Amino acid sequence: MGVFLAERLWGEAALPPGGSAPLCPVLSGPIPSRQSPAFALSGPQLLLWRLPMKFFVDTADVAAIKELNDLGMVDGVTTNPSLILKSGRDILEVTKEICDMVSGPVSAEVVATEAKDMITEGLKLAKIASNIAIKVPLTWDGLTACKAFASEGHMVNVTLCFSAAQAILAAKAGASFVSPFIGRLDDINLDGVELIDDIRTIYDNYDYKTEILAASIRNVNHITECAKIGADVITAPPAVIKAMANHVLTDKGLDQFLKDWAKTGQKIV
Ligand code: G3P
Repeated sequence: MGVFLAERLWGEAALPPGGSAPLCPVLSGPIPSRQSPAFALSGPQLLLWRLPMKFFVDTADVAAIKELNDLGMVDGVTTNPSLILKSGRDILEVTKEICDMVSGPVSAEVVATEAKDMITEGLKLAKIASNIAIKVPLTWDGLTACKAFASEGHMVNVTLCFSAAQAILAAKAGASFVSPFIGRLDDINLDGVELIDDIRTIYDNYDYKTEILAASIRNVNHITECAKIGADVITAPPAVIKAMANHVLTDKGLDQFLKDWAKTGQKIV
């Protein structure tokens, strides 16, 4: 693991000299034993730990978000104009509802195409809640708006990213997240997962802090490939996240267990 990769994957906290270990903000609890393989000590006072890949849900369907959120599966939510249309809801109302439910970043997208108007819209969206990430398209105007939002401390998700060059610009404009669209690249016979890999390499080369938010995820394989590469975040429709639990051999094995159990004539309760 190179230095850059280590810096990206590991959080850090200074240990007070001779004091007890600090609480781990990632695990929300005491830091486990230093002998654990998940931990490493770098220097006498620097404790490092791995940051997990975050799961965002790509939908404005409040019921679907709630189901996954109740299971602790939701680290954030992404919406876009098409998803708002699909929800049939008012953007301000439904986004507020989502922000009240989910503590992580909730992306809400501007629809203006000129920077000045994007900024007006984005500031209105940001007023919905403190966990709004203003979503702007990866155009020159979008980058201009991104820079303005980032300078004022707003989270920004730069979306509709289809090339590594675009991702570099998003990072330089101060984006919190860049959203490369995997499925739409696959749709035109390009390799969406390869783009995630390229951006990971570039961001690690130069230690860009922008998080790679892999989007337009259509299947479980996209998610596992992103995890292998080290995408910071994946955003996927609820059905794809739920499909991660499926395996034909699980179904087959369970079926056999139940048949055999029935033959025993026993009951557990
Ligand atoms: O997060 C972006 C996503 O909503 C686009 O997905 O399937 O419409 O390409 P898709």
